[in-house]
Amino acid sequence: MKLISCIIRPYKLDEVREALTNAGVSGITVSEVRGFGRQKGHTELYRGAEYVVDFLPKLKLEVVIADELLDTVLEAVQQSAKTGSVGDGKIFISTIEQVIRIRTGELDADAL
Ligand SMILES: Nc1ncnc2c1ncn2[C@@H]1O[C@H](COP(=O)(O)OP(=O)(O)OP(=O)(O)O)[C@@H](O)[C@H]1O
Ligand SMILES: [Mg+2]
Repeated sequence: MKLISCIIRPYKLDEVREALTNAGVSGITVSEVRGFGRQKGHTELYRGAEYVVDFLPKLKLEVVIADELLDTVLEAVQQSAKTGSVGDGKIFISTIEQVIRIRTGELDADAL
């Protein structure tokens, strides 16, 4: 299983959620975060206003998926989150050792 952590532009949430749902993911966690990339937050526009601060508002989406879904999910996020301008975000991929559904005690693929 893989954990896909995506940092995206906040206004892209609906589009990315729809793409992930169509790709077959069974759950999504979303958090409001702030961050900067290599422009250090200085040259980006957010909703038309230039931010003079270092940290820009972003959303973090976390999705745990079966390995077979990896390519589909990465494609879905890239297509839906991309604008082509700096600040589009990033995808971090890591391996998940175990998943447990609390209600039933089901494990791994059965628990996703
Ligand atoms: N190396 C990193 N580690 C952790 N978070 C990061 C990293 N790089 C980017 N992020 C997060 O992703 C957000 C968007 O980054 P961003 O897309 O600006 O990356 P970038 O490397 O500057 O690429 P670009 O040149 O396309 O802007 C940042 O605000 C931050 O929250
Ligand atoms: Mg950047």
